[in-house]
Amino acid sequence: MKKILIMNGPNLNMLGIREPGVYGSMSLGDMNDFIQAQAKEQAYNVELEFFQSNHEGVMIDKLHECYGRKDGIVLNAGAYTHYSYAIRDAISSIGIPCVEVHLSDIHAREGFRHVSVIQEVCLAQICGMGVKGYIEALKILLEEEK
Ligand code: DQA
Repeated sequence: MKKILIMNGPNLNMLGIREPGVYGSMSLGDMNDFIQAQAKEQAYNVELEFFQSNHEGVMIDKLHECYGRKDGIVLNAGAYTHYSYAIRDAISSIGIPCVEVHLSDIHAREGFRHVSVIQEVCLAQICGMGVKGYIEALKILLEEEK
């Protein structure tokens, strides 16, 4: 059974309240419940862990903790996506397959969101699919050879 971490970064604890026109009306808790329910419904052979932090260092520590413990990571790094070389280095340090997810279509928004500094160290980037993007990311990780 693959062990996968679903990690959300800064401000994603505010889902449901935060700009619902952009991010939808689901709370983070609802979103995580949806992902867990989908994994069960699709009979995915996977153990999921959910984690959110507003702090870069805490996210980096959590990524390091995954070394030797997880088989894949679904990561919505929030705004850190656009400038955190430290998170990028953490992903490449642990060598665990990681899929980058964004609820919104970052390429259709402000210019600063078009750049992802983590894209090159991730297997894929999924954006603009809302919560379904997390399911797509999960599928990619489950299809990945160990
Ligand atoms: C986001 C997009 C980022 O640009 C933004 O800073 C977020 C959320 C998304 O899920 O669409 O916090 O990652």
